[in-house]
Amino acid sequence: MQFTCAPEDAAFSHAPLMALLCRMPKAELHVHVEGTLEPELIFALAERNGVKLPYASVDALRAAYAFTDLQSFLDVYYAGANVLLHEADFFDMAMAYFRRAAADNVVHAELFFDPQTHTERGVAFVTMINGLTRASQQAEQQWGITSGWILCFLRHRSEAAAFETLAQAEPFRALLLGVGLDSSEQGHPPEKFTRVFARCRALGLRCVAHAGEEGPPAYIAGALDALQAQRIDHGVRCLEDAALVARLVAQRVPLTVCPLSNLKLCVVPSLAAHPLPALLEAGLCVTLNSDDPAYFGGYINRNFTDTFTALPQLGAAHAYRLADNSFTASFAPPERQAAWRQRLDRLFAAA
Ligand code: ADE
Ligand code: ZN
Repeated sequence: MQFTCAPEDAAFSHAPLMALLCRMPKAELHVHVEGTLEPELIFALAERNGVKLPYASVDALRAAYAFTDLQSFLDVYYAGANVLLHEADFFDMAMAYFRRAAADNVVHAELFFDPQTHTERGVAFVTMINGLTRASQQAEQQWGITSGWILCFLRHRSEAAAFETLAQAEPFRALLLGVGLDSSEQGHPPEKFTRVFARCRALGLRCVAHAGEEGPPAYIAGALDALQAQRIDHGVRCLEDAALVARLVAQRVPLTVCPLSNLKLCVVPSLAAHPLPALLEAGLCVTLNSDDPAYFGGYINRNFTDTFTALPQLGAAHAYRLADNSFTASFAPPERQAAWRQRLDRLFAAA
């Protein structure tokens, strides 16, 4: 279905557009399951597992969510993940996400998890992957959401540590959709993991990578060249390099953009200043996602509604394009993408 921008959109007042954003089917392609741990669940799991938290209450923990950059967030995020010990903890965390995602009309999710955060505390790979994949099965039965798991290597850790994690993951290869790269970006260029990603590709794993969130455009090019990343997570700084934008457009490399994350981590000064309109205007295959919704003030629909509210030049045509892109950019089979697109078309035809 073809939607042009300005004229039709003028007919959309704010409330119907917000309803459309919320009701439209969508895929979420950039969400860290550890970033969906709500403070209430952190406290419940801490009590269940006898883990001592450095915060007196849920409110005190929430008060610590005042981030100045990526690292200030990661410090709190890794501390929160310490409560995850048993298979049931990973299951409960993932089910809580799927419940929220279903309410936001997410039909498909490709989620990141950070095994090194857990194995370094003595949690076995099998414990986490069993809990996560059991949640995927139940979410599909309960809400019809399909999902897949992307193992992220922590880029602040060494190449050797990444290889060790990959060795632990190999027996569970069939349960993995692909691999990614996350954590502290600055000073840890993609090239550090060239050999690990080559091995992952040889194993048939799909490759994505965080790049151009805080790091320079050269890290996006590095993720494409050295890692052969099929999607770039964030990538907002590509706009600083016109040749790179042209390459991303020509190669149809999707960007999984996360506006509330960018706001909370001070990548942008305000949502009104978010480069989403410029990214769309450039013809990039952009998707909207929540990144770490428990920490950044909202799940995927909140990312859509807050961003469209702050950027009134965005209308129904952009909403359609973002949902359509989320299907195209997913690793789901084309026939499933086509079925979601039909649902999207029906909703927009009736709007
Ligand atoms: N891990 C969790 N959220 C992240 C982000 N936004 N960037 C890098 N690593 C992360
Ligand atoms: Zn992320």
